[in-house]
Amino acid sequence: MPIRIAPSILSADLARLDDEVRQVLAGGADQVHVDVMDGRFVPNLTFGAPVVQCLRRHTDAVLDCHLMVEDPERYIEPFAKAGADILTIHAEATRHLERHVAAIREAGMKPGVALNPATPLAAVEEVADALDLLLVMTVNPGFGGQPFWEPGIDKVRRARALLDATRSGAMLEVDGGVGRETIGRLAAAGADTFVAGLAIYGAKDPGAEVHELRRRAEEASAGLKSA
Ligand code: DX5
Ligand code: ZN
Repeated sequence: MPIRIAPSILSADLARLDDEVRQVLAGGADQVHVDVMDGRFVPNLTFGAPVVQCLRRHTDAVLDCHLMVEDPERYIEPFAKAGADILTIHAEATRHLERHVAAIREAGMKPGVALNPATPLAAVEEVADALDLLLVMTVNPGFGGQPFWEPGIDKVRRARALLDATRSGAMLEVDGGVGRETIGRLAAAGADTFVAGLAIYGAKDPGAEVHELRRRAEEASAGLKSA
C-alpha cells in the first residue's frame, strides 16, 4: 500500500481554509481529513456537510471525512451530496454497522470505520472485507493536539494482521498524536494512511512538514518490507 498523508483541517486557520488546504496539497498531501463533531459523540462541535460542499468547489483533492457523531446514518446522504469521497463512521456510534457501511458505498463514497482506543478490533472483524478504510484512533477523539496513545502501536500491528487475514484491501489509517516522533513506528507496525493536525498546521511550513512526515513513513515501511 502506498503511504498517504492526510492533514486534518481541525488545526488549520479556518478563516483561511482555502489557502490552508492549498498549502498542504502543494506539499504533496494525498487527502484532506475533515473532522466532523456533533457535541454528543464527542464533547466538541466542528463543521458539517456545508463546509465539505464549499471545499469541494475549491479542490479535486480526496475529502476524507471522519464523522464523530451519534447515529451517523443521518449524514450519509448529505455528505454524499456535498461531495465527500471517504466517509468514516465510528463503530461505537451505531448498532447497525454493516448496513451503514453498505449504504455509504451505495451512496457512491468509500466506507470507513473508526475505533476509539478502548474498542476492540473484533468490532470490525465481520465487516473488514467490506471496508475501504479502517481508522485506528490513537487518542480519544474530540480535540486536536492530544498526546499519542502508545498502546495504539500494538493495536495497529493487530489491525494490519486482521486486514491481511480477511484479504481486505482497506487503507489502515491512524489518527491522533501523529507526528515526527510517532509516524515511523506506526508505519513499521503496518499503518499506511496518516492523519496529522497539529504536527502539520503547527509547523512553520505545513507543506514541507507533509513532505517530511512522508519521508519518515516511507523509510520505516521500506524497512518493514525488507525485514
Ligand atoms: C481527533 C481528530 C483528529 C485530530 C488529530 O478527535 O479525529 O483528526 O485532528 O489531531 P492531532 O494530529 O493534532 O492529534
Ligand atoms: Zn479525525
